[in-house]
Amino acid sequence: MRFKNTIITGTGSYIPTEVVTNPDFAGTQFYDTDSKAFDISHEEISEKFQAITGIAERRYVTSDLNASDIAALAAEKAIAEAGIDPEELDQIIVAHDFGDIPKGTIQTDTLPSLSARVKNLLKINNPKCVAYDLIFGCPGWIQGVIHADSFIKNGIAKKCLVIATETLSRVVDIHDRDSMIYSDGSGAAVLELAEEDAPRGILSFSTESYTKEEAYYLFLGKSYITDADPKIRYIKMHGRKIYEFALKYVPGVVKESIEKANLDIHDIKKIFIHQANEKMDQEIVKRLFRLYGIREMPKDIMPMSIHKLGNNSVATVPTLYDLVRKERFGDHDLEPGDNIVFASVGAGMNINSIAYRY
Ligand SMILES: CC(C)(COP(=O)(O)OP(=O)(O)OC[C@H]1O[C@@H](n2cnc3c(N)ncnc32)[C@H](O)[C@@H]1OP(=O)(O)O)[C@@H](O)C(=O)NCCC(=O)NCCS
Repeated sequence: MRFKNTIITGTGSYIPTEVVTNPDFAGTQFYDTDSKAFDISHEEISEKFQAITGIAERRYVTSDLNASDIAALAAEKAIAEAGIDPEELDQIIVAHDFGDIPKGTIQTDTLPSLSARVKNLLKINNPKCVAYDLIFGCPGWIQGVIHADSFIKNGIAKKCLVIATETLSRVVDIHDRDSMIYSDGSGAAVLELAEEDAPRGILSFSTESYTKEEAYYLFLGKSYITDADPKIRYIKMHGRKIYEFALKYVPGVVKESIEKANLDIHDIKKIFIHQANEKMDQEIVKRLFRLYGIREMPKDIMPMSIHKLGNNSVATVPTLYDLVRKERFGDHDLEPGDNIVFASVGAGMNINSIAYRY
């Protein structure tokens, strides 16, 4: 029997060069939602922040770069590793939430789409290479991979490039202490059809969207500074609600994708999960194991990039995967045949998970 597999044949990432540490925020006054300045020291805020999230550093792009530029840089690496001619690509899918935001502005620019800009930067001429953007919150890259898999399995495409890119440093309210969570980055993957004797690559996926009271857990809002201009809006979130939402629903979606692949939790070697808060991720994975009646999760199952890279939204999962598979991420490694999971949660609120055989 022959299987139509969708496999990742190349990955790439762009990790911005500007390192911003928690003490670097010390010069900025933080305010609460009522525009009241916090009366504790920056050191205390910073310590608590690091204790809750695990984030010590994050990366920002330099002022000459936009989201589409770093997307093209990550894409070039993925294409080079896949060893394909970019003209052969059938689809370029770019996941993001804010478009390009030139430094010094707060206006998001999605005309033309980032995918059109990336295709232009990659100098691809083929009009049959369809380029479109995907807005799905932080789970956008995983959803793009699900699109690519669906196109490939249905005979619509043979080669797809799925990119994630975000410059959250350009949409943060510097007077909101939650701004310390966010960072910039880009990750990309080339996915190709492979007709083989055994299943490999994308085995299954699950996605859910919760849009009742959850729809506005992440939103645009004015700065917390006194008398802020309501016409200028920044990324804001109800962090506690997101935290509780993620713990409640993400484990079930991940379990569903593992079951659809006819696998058991013991078969999973690594879980590449979106990085927004270290404690939250640990609790999600603990709860996943508890759904299987297991009280202790294996020590090295979840590579964590959050300490050094913060939360760069869509870019987190593909960047982490790129680093691990290229053996640039501590002791984490992958061998052919390993079963892994990609999972994410974010604005929408959306959750998704893919079971993948390496
Ligand atoms: C935002 C977040 C860090 C806040 O943490 P939390 O534990 O829920 O915070 P709480 O509001 O319950 O407050 C707990 C304590 O931390 C403090 N705190 C909250 N946010 C803080 C921040 N950003 N920096 C420093 N301290 C913070 C509070 O003042 C409170 O202190 P206290 O115990 O002295 O009163 C956390 O909710 C979170 O990471 N949520 C998920 C974010 C996420 O996934 N976003 C999705 C983007 S894709």
